[in-house]
Amino acid sequence: MIRPIVKYGKEDVLHQPSQRVDQITPDLRHLVEDMVETMYAAPGIGLAAPQVGVALRIFVIDLSLGRDSSGLIALVNPEFVERQGMQLEEEGCLSVPGFNATVARPDLAVVRGLDLEGQERTVEGKGLLARAFQHEMDHLDGKVFVDRLRGIKRELIVRKIHKLNRTGKW
Ligand code: NI
Repeated sequence: MIRPIVKYGKEDVLHQPSQRVDQITPDLRHLVEDMVETMYAAPGIGLAAPQVGVALRIFVIDLSLGRDSSGLIALVNPEFVERQGMQLEEEGCLSVPGFNATVARPDLAVVRGLDLEGQERTVEGKGLLARAFQHEMDHLDGKVFVDRLRGIKRELIVRKIHKLNRTGKW
């Protein structure tokens, strides 16, 4: 089932740290299925549970947008094992539709978490995948890419969002 995506500034769940998952239950697997469906429908390359209103530490990523069946990464309670280097690229977010900005991210990131069978998985990402890991991990800590911007860049986006909000377009 496709779930509605929470937009920036609309619900606390997007702006607060999420809880660790205690147990992988059928309900939790169902949630992850919905997250994957919602991500593909958007379409987007990543989605974190708080973006569908659930304050749990889970994200899904698929750089292939569903075209490659081995491309899907779904991790529960992910943690960074390693981060290295730096890249500067444009970035967007399904919770901030219509906006993007250049964000500094590590160029390599290794993440460890549980898969849906409860098995530990370690995944290494370079370039775009490293960026996606950092972006989704930020969501689990209540941060959106806009929060990573400084000064006028951040202010411009926030002001435009407020304006859209006031006119009922957000
Ligand atoms: Ni996002």
